[in-house]
Amino acid sequence: MTTSPTKHDENSYDRLTELKQFDESKLGVKGLLDSGITTIPRFFHQPPENLPFLKPKITKSKSTVPVIDLSLERSTVVDQIRKSASTVGFFQIVNHGVPVKVIESVINDMEKFYEESNEYKMKFYHRDAAKGAAYSTNFDLFQSQGASWRDTLQVRMGPLDPAWDLVPEICRAALADWDKAVAVLAEQLMSLLCEGLGIKSEKLKELLCLEGRLCISHYYPHCPQPELTMGITSHTDPGVLTMLVQNDVGGLQVKCGEDWVDVEVVPGAIVINIGDMLQIMSNDEYKSVEHRVLANNVERARISVVVFFNPSIREKTYGPFPELISAKKPAIYQELVLEEYMKRFFAKGIDGRTLTNVYRIHNTNG
Ligand code: OGA
Ligand code: NI
Repeated sequence: MTTSPTKHDENSYDRLTELKQFDESKLGVKGLLDSGITTIPRFFHQPPENLPFLKPKITKSKSTVPVIDLSLERSTVVDQIRKSASTVGFFQIVNHGVPVKVIESVINDMEKFYEESNEYKMKFYHRDAAKGAAYSTNFDLFQSQGASWRDTLQVRMGPLDPAWDLVPEICRAALADWDKAVAVLAEQLMSLLCEGLGIKSEKLKELLCLEGRLCISHYYPHCPQPELTMGITSHTDPGVLTMLVQNDVGGLQVKCGEDWVDVEVVPGAIVINIGDMLQIMSNDEYKSVEHRVLANNVERARISVVVFFNPSIREKTYGPFPELISAKKPAIYQELVLEEYMKRFFAKGIDGRTLTNVYRIHNTNG
């Protein structure tokens, strides 16, 4: 049976062509903006359910995402981290030992890269992340319902050595320094998080969660129509732990019940959040919480630099820690092979659905 294409089909056909043209231009969102546009291409329009401005924005007090001082007494720190990790799933840390200069340099040098000429950046533009480093707009450009207003450079930092020749020279040294500093801090944080669970403090380290590192830098340029799109749509992070630094523009929000809460910009602080894998490993003690970034409505670009931590061995199975399982607290999740799990994440793209539900054991007794 032949049917004439529906209006919807026509739109999706046009959309695919437009997406391809944009991707092949290798301009990124920044290059597109610099071309002088005053309205955004319609493939950036988000479906209404992804947009924040339909309802009046409700935000709770700033203190919902706590700022934790790592220089306090260990038992206090363990307590504060456990409390945040098991409720909001997000916290910021200060007095963390990562030199301010390392943070400033990585933000500044990433900004330098994004503000380079189109000709320079184009050489790095591709979406084959398997090569170890890739710069593009939206890793899920062709999967998502609406594109988001940001460009991204991603570099695999471990377990293999980074493919430095694929990383722009402007930001190589700063990324290497940031990665090194963040790995030291992550070891400390993982041990604090394990202590909060009441398990051996080296547990996450022994699972090689410090080895699998992906460093991602996002660039959120000014958006001429911020009410129609997003910087990054709502999602949870798939990995174990995420650590983020940002410049002073702001726009990151965390879901807290039915509300979205702004993550206040605290100069020099590092934002930490629990990923789906740690929610699974902790058998739901710690929470991987939805977050998003609004499309940038100010003139200056927003920059963030993030490191995602994951066990480096992807062929093995992972699941709730046996130490946390008892007759009273049975395992809530099935064991999973990390490789399959990560494939699932990259195949679906950022669609607002967490992977934890896929592996959740449904209790037929209610
Ligand atoms: C992410 C993310 C937030 C930000 O990359 O998963 O949530 O502020 N980024 O860039
Ligand atoms: Ni995220």
